[in-house]
Amino acid sequence: MPGDKSISHRALILGALSVGETRISGLLEGEDVLNTAQSMRALGAKVERTGDFAWVVRGVGVAGFAQPRDPLDFGNSGTGCRLVMGAVAGCPITAVFDGDASLRSRPMRRVLDPLEQVGARVIAGGEGGRLPLTLQGARNPLPIEYRTPVASAQIKSAVLLAGLAAPGTTTVIETEASRDHTELMLRHFGAEIVSVPEGAHGRRITLTGQPELRGADVVVPADPSSAAFPVVAALIVEGSDLILTDVMTNPLRTGLFTTLREMGGSIEESEVRGDAGEPMARLRVQASRLRGVEVPPERAPSMIDEYLILAVAAAFAEGRTIMRGLKELRVKESDRLAATAEMLRVNGVNVEISGDDLIVEGRGHVPGGGLVTTHMDHRIAMSALVMGLVADKPVKVDDTAFIATSFPDFIPMMRSLGAEFS
Ligand code: S3P
Repeated sequence: MPGDKSISHRALILGALSVGETRISGLLEGEDVLNTAQSMRALGAKVERTGDFAWVVRGVGVAGFAQPRDPLDFGNSGTGCRLVMGAVAGCPITAVFDGDASLRSRPMRRVLDPLEQVGARVIAGGEGGRLPLTLQGARNPLPIEYRTPVASAQIKSAVLLAGLAAPGTTTVIETEASRDHTELMLRHFGAEIVSVPEGAHGRRITLTGQPELRGADVVVPADPSSAAFPVVAALIVEGSDLILTDVMTNPLRTGLFTTLREMGGSIEESEVRGDAGEPMARLRVQASRLRGVEVPPERAPSMIDEYLILAVAAAFAEGRTIMRGLKELRVKESDRLAATAEMLRVNGVNVEISGDDLIVEGRGHVPGGGLVTTHMDHRIAMSALVMGLVADKPVKVDDTAFIATSFPDFIPMMRSLGAEFS
């Protein structure tokens, strides 16, 4: 499996904000992460590929970014763009942020609001803070306390990365805990950061500003959000028995595996180990008869990128699956709530959107034969292709180009497991 995308972005960014050398193995060499690597170079860090998935970063230190000459282009990646906005917000430089048509349509106000409190200024930008925009970092960044309005690791991470440059403590409070890779990795690079429970499902994270981050080694585990595709494929293709190694099992990322098990899926974990605070394990997945379940809204942050492929599993299950609280899906690489419904509908599955919930009627099989519009969204393309493996008639997608943002070897890997593409 390819390296984890979230950890790959963070390893490059924290490497660039550190003093000394950061050696990364297992980096995801997908377009999103390569754009982040390029932006780190443009901001003054030395970033080199030294072998397959092996990279070295020589950083500039906290608040040490140089003025970039050209706009920073993040392509399709909300994570790369929003995290780097946070890091730039704490530096006395001005940078232009841009991306593709999908990224240009996504909301940036959610990160700009707290970054303005830190002292950064938006000098030019589209309506609602849309890209392309010009951000002027703070000369004297302020430590803030910020309660995130939605469960978003991107907002949290942007605030923490800006807070690195501020004196005193920066606090982020989240009502629902989101993935904590930034916190774990900041600690690994030498920052003082404390996370305590807040309310029923939330956290309060406190970072001591102006640490000296030191370059560190990072082993990137396999991405559970990419593993999700072969995992669901193995569950629905009769006779499958698949082993995936070193898949990250951070509990804030494994909501899909929990849900698939509740549906009756056979997913066994073994050889659990950890690196830089991130647990990983070997997964054995065997074809299973799945049944519909109800997925509670509080599980959404731990499987936010996996609802598309879960909807595919739900279509092959027996009975109704109700996925609750999916509002955030509307602002991903595409409007994934609408796109999931459309993907299933054109392939003969009964599906309904009710408020922020998605309801899929599983009938144990999918008629297929539909043409799925991918809307510049890698996960729509991969989900639709997995559906095509077992649908009564093959499934077509209009565009596979965006798969390269997160899983460049998806098609050869699936072919090696026996899938047929034409
Ligand atoms: C990510 C956070 C999530 C997720 C994205 C990666 C990250 O977005 O959808 O693919 O690496 O921080 P939000 O934090 O906006 O929910």
